[in-house]
Amino acid sequence: MQAIIGQPIDRSDARLKVMGAAKYAAEFSVSGLAHAALVQSTIANGAIIAIDTGAAERMPGVLAVITPDNADKLQLERKSPQTVTKPTLQDREVLFNGQHIGIVVADTLERAHAAAAAVKVTYQQGEAITRMEPVIGQAYVPKHFRNGARPPDSSRGDADAAFASAPVKLEATYTTPVEHHNPMEPHATIARWDGDELTVYTATQGITGAQETLATLFGIPPEKVHVICPFVGGGFGCKGNAWPPVTLTAMAARKVGRPVKLNLTRADMYTSNGYRPRTIQKLRFAADSDGKLISMRHDGFSQMSMPVLGEFAEPVGLATEMLYACPNVAVTHRLVAINAGVPTYMRAPGEASGVFALESAMDELAVALRMDPIEFRLRNDSAIDMHENKPFSSRNLRECYLRGAELFGWARRTPEPRSMRDGRHLVGVGMATATYPANRSPAGALVRLNADGTVVVRSGTQDIGTGTYTVMSQVAAETLRMPVSRVRFELGDSRFPKAPVSGGSQTVASVSSAVLAACLAARQKVFDLVLADPQLGAGLSAAELRFENGNVIAPPGRIGLAQLLARQGVDHIETSARTDAGHGKEGHSLRSFGAQLAEVRVDPDLGTIRVSRYVGVFDAGRILNAKTARSQMIGGITYGLGMALFEATQMDADTGRIVNANVAEYLMPVNADVPEIEVVMLPGDDQIVDPLGARGIGELPMVGVAGAVANAVYHATGKRIRELPITPEKLL
Ligand code: MOS
Repeated sequence: MQAIIGQPIDRSDARLKVMGAAKYAAEFSVSGLAHAALVQSTIANGAIIAIDTGAAERMPGVLAVITPDNADKLQLERKSPQTVTKPTLQDREVLFNGQHIGIVVADTLERAHAAAAAVKVTYQQGEAITRMEPVIGQAYVPKHFRNGARPPDSSRGDADAAFASAPVKLEATYTTPVEHHNPMEPHATIARWDGDELTVYTATQGITGAQETLATLFGIPPEKVHVICPFVGGGFGCKGNAWPPVTLTAMAARKVGRPVKLNLTRADMYTSNGYRPRTIQKLRFAADSDGKLISMRHDGFSQMSMPVLGEFAEPVGLATEMLYACPNVAVTHRLVAINAGVPTYMRAPGEASGVFALESAMDELAVALRMDPIEFRLRNDSAIDMHENKPFSSRNLRECYLRGAELFGWARRTPEPRSMRDGRHLVGVGMATATYPANRSPAGALVRLNADGTVVVRSGTQDIGTGTYTVMSQVAAETLRMPVSRVRFELGDSRFPKAPVSGGSQTVASVSSAVLAACLAARQKVFDLVLADPQLGAGLSAAELRFENGNVIAPPGRIGLAQLLARQGVDHIETSARTDAGHGKEGHSLRSFGAQLAEVRVDPDLGTIRVSRYVGVFDAGRILNAKTARSQMIGGITYGLGMALFEATQMDADTGRIVNANVAEYLMPVNADVPEIEVVMLPGDDQIVDPLGARGIGELPMVGVAGAVANAVYHATGKRIRELPITPEKLL
C-alpha cells in the first residue's frame, strides 16, 4: 500500500466548508435561544458610580440586564495562568476603555443590542495611562514569565563588557504595535444549563481549557461542563483562552433560565479576547571585524494591562538567546502597565515581534561590517543551542539559507542601497531567519474499529483551520493500513480523550502521537483476539500477522474483522491511548528553522511598498500533508506581510479608545498585496520530538517575515524603519 502520511490530500472537511455545512459555534440551533449583547465602558480608568438599567429593562423582549450590581459571584481563584477571571462584572472598577461592564439578554439579537445601548452609566473618571513611553520607568518584572517555566532574564558571558571593547557595534530601538488577531469567525458562545450541568458551544482553540475555566469560575466539577467545538474559523491565539464573553454568556443563561447566544461583533473583537502587545525592544549587538558576533543584548518591554487583570509578557528575547553562536548574550523582559485590556498570544508570540528586532539588527550589523547578510548569518551559525547548552534535535538552517539564496537569485543582488531599480521603482531584497520551538504536550485518542470496516478516531483536540481532521485521518489510515476514506476523525468535544490547546503549533506533534499509539493498540488488540481464538488462531504466531484493509492477514489466508468480531459477539473494538510530552527529548533543543527572502518595489515619490517576490525555505521536520502544510506556510508568510506593512491597532491617546476596531481601518493584506509565495519544505524526520518525526508548522513561517521585508525596504531606499508597520509615510 502506498504511503498516506505526507500525501497532499484534500481536506476532509473541505466540501462541508465550501457548502456552508460546517457548523460553527454560533450556528448550532438550540431551542428557546435568547440573544446577548455586551455593554462596554466608555472611559479607560475609573469606577462606575451608578448604572441605570431601567430604560433598557423596559424595552420589548428584554429578559435581563446584568451588571456588577446583580451579577453572580464567581470563584476568582485562578487554577492556572490560562484561567481568565476578569473583567467579569465582579466589581465596579474600570481599567480600560471597552471593558465589559454589562451583558443584556433579549429575545432577539436586535433587541439585545438596542437595550445594551440604552444602559446609562455614570462614572468617576480617573486619569488614564494610554501610552507606554511616559511610564516605561515603572516597568516591572513579570511574575509568571512563560507560566513560570523559566526566569524572564538570562545571560551568558558578559554582554556589556564585550560590547564596550568591540570594533563593530549597533545600538538601536525597535518597536512593534498592538495587533489584533481578527480571525474570520468572530468569537461566539451558546450556553445552556440543564440543572447544574453546563453545555457550551464555543469558538475555541482549547475545549479543555474552556471546560476548566468555566468549572473554576462557576465552582462546579469539570465533568459537569460540556464544551463542543467542531470547527473554528481561525483563532491565531485569541481563542486560546476562555475569555470573559464565554463566562458572561454562561452567567446570562443561568440568569434567564434559557440558552443564550453571544456572538461578538467585529468591534467587540478588539476589546474582548486579547491582542498582541506593543513592544519596545532595545538591542545592542557587536561583532569583531571578521563578522563574528561577540555581544548581544536584547531588552524587551511589552505592554500590559493593569496587573490586577492578569499577566502576559511577550517573550521577545528567546530567539536572541539561541539562534546564533555568540559567547556574550543578555536578555531581559519587562512589562509596562497601561489602561488597556490584557494582551495574549498572537501568531508566533515572542518570536514574531522579537525576531523582527533581532533580524533587523543583524542586517544593520551586516551593513556596518560591509558583509553580505547571508554570509554574516552563515558565519554565526551555531551547531548547538548555546542558551540551553544542548545540541539541536535537528537544524538544517544552513541548507535553508543556501537553498533560499539559490531559488531567489540572491547572487544578483548588488549590495549598495538604492542600487537596484525597475523603471522608476526602487527595488530591494532582504532576508531574515525564522525559528520557532517544536512544542509537544500530553494527548489522548480513542480508536474504534467497526465490523463494517470503518474506523472512528476521537480526540478532544481542535481544528483551527489548519487541517487536524485531515492529517489525523492520514495518520490513522496509514497505521491501520486502510484507505483514508474509511476513517472518520472526530474532535472538538470535551467528552473525548483530552488533548492540548491548539496553540504554540503543538497539535500535530501532540495529537498524532496519541492517534498513532491508539491505532497501534487497536491493531494489537485484533491480533490478540485472533491468537486467543482456538480456531482462528490455531498454529499462528504473532510475528506472522498483519493488519490490512480491515482484515488480519495470516498465512495462508485472511481473517475478516467482521468475522472476528462476530465470533466475539461484539460489533466493534475500541482502544485508547494517552501519550506524554515526549521521552528522551530533554537532552536536545527542539526547534524549527527557516530562511525568509523578500523582494520589494518602492515608489520613491509615494513611499508605497509592494512585495514583488517571496521565497521561504523551512526545516520543520516531517511534513504529514504536503498540501495543508503548504497552505499553512503561505498563510503564515501572508500574516507576516501584514505585520511588516499593514497591521496596527490605533488607540486614541486621550480616551484610550481603540479607533480602528474594524476590518476596514485595521489593515490586513489582501490578494493584491500578496505575491506568488514560493515555499520549500526540506525533508525531515525528527524522531526526538515525536514518533512520526513531525514538528508543528503553524507559527514558524511568519517568524522573520517582517525582518526580511524591513531589510528589503532598507536595501531599496536606504531608510531603516525600526517601527512596524512600515507604512508609506515613514518612507517620505
Ligand atoms: Mo497561538 S498564538 O499559540 O494560537
